[in-house]
Amino acid sequence: MENLVLVHVRPRHQKNVMAYRQAFLASGESMDGSSDLQDFTDFQAWYDQVQASSQRETVKAGWVPASQYICLQRGHQEVLGMLQFRHELNNYLKEIGGHIGYSVHPDYRNQGIAQTMLKEALKICYHQGMAKVLVTCHASNKASQKVIEACGGVRDESSFDPNSGEEVYRYWIQVN
Ligand SMILES: CC(C)(COP(=O)(O)OP(=O)(O)OC[C@H]1O[C@@H](n2cnc3c(N)ncnc32)[C@H](O)[C@@H]1OP(=O)(O)O)[C@@H](O)C(=O)NCCC(=O)NCCS
Repeated sequence: MENLVLVHVRPRHQKNVMAYRQAFLASGESMDGSSDLQDFTDFQAWYDQVQASSQRETVKAGWVPASQYICLQRGHQEVLGMLQFRHELNNYLKEIGGHIGYSVHPDYRNQGIAQTMLKEALKICYHQGMAKVLVTCHASNKASQKVIEACGGVRDESSFDPNSGEEVYRYWIQVN
């Protein structure tokens, strides 16, 4: 898909963010890279949490600052994907979560949206002065593996996710 942009989420995106949430609740899939949008019926409460999570002074204890992005097609409002960039790694992120989480609307899969989003996010990481970025996915998530490998991911040692009981593939991507 062409003319995709990755932008910070804003209050004006409310209707389309909540439509994205509904689509995932209907498909029953995991809303990765959405700052736990699945847990919020109220957009403002979710948005407040996104804002608090973006600053070291206000992020939840034990969590690292993170930025929430949405993917749109230029000139359109529908949310096609969501991506969260975690500015640093804590122990959980080092082993399981990585720097970047993402998901793509179930109706728009296999059109290169995740790949485009990850490439855009890597540019943001580069501009923040990062040298390498950790991106992870479950061993069963073949689509995400393709996305990460297409963006230059090099496999490191795997870990184990006790929540899902699955092996986690851990990839480093050089961004400089
Ligand atoms: C993983 C996910 C983000 C991919 O989004 P997407 O926009 O469809 O990804 P892209 O189109 O950029 O690339 C998908 C690639 O996987 C391939 N693919 C899709 N399903 C596949 C499968 N079951 N087995 C193997 N390859 C598969 C596609 O052919 C494509 O490869 P290609 O570029 O070589 O043709 C999307 O499926 C999703 O949101 N899933 C639920 C949440 C999730 O798993 N997030 C990632 C957590 S790590």
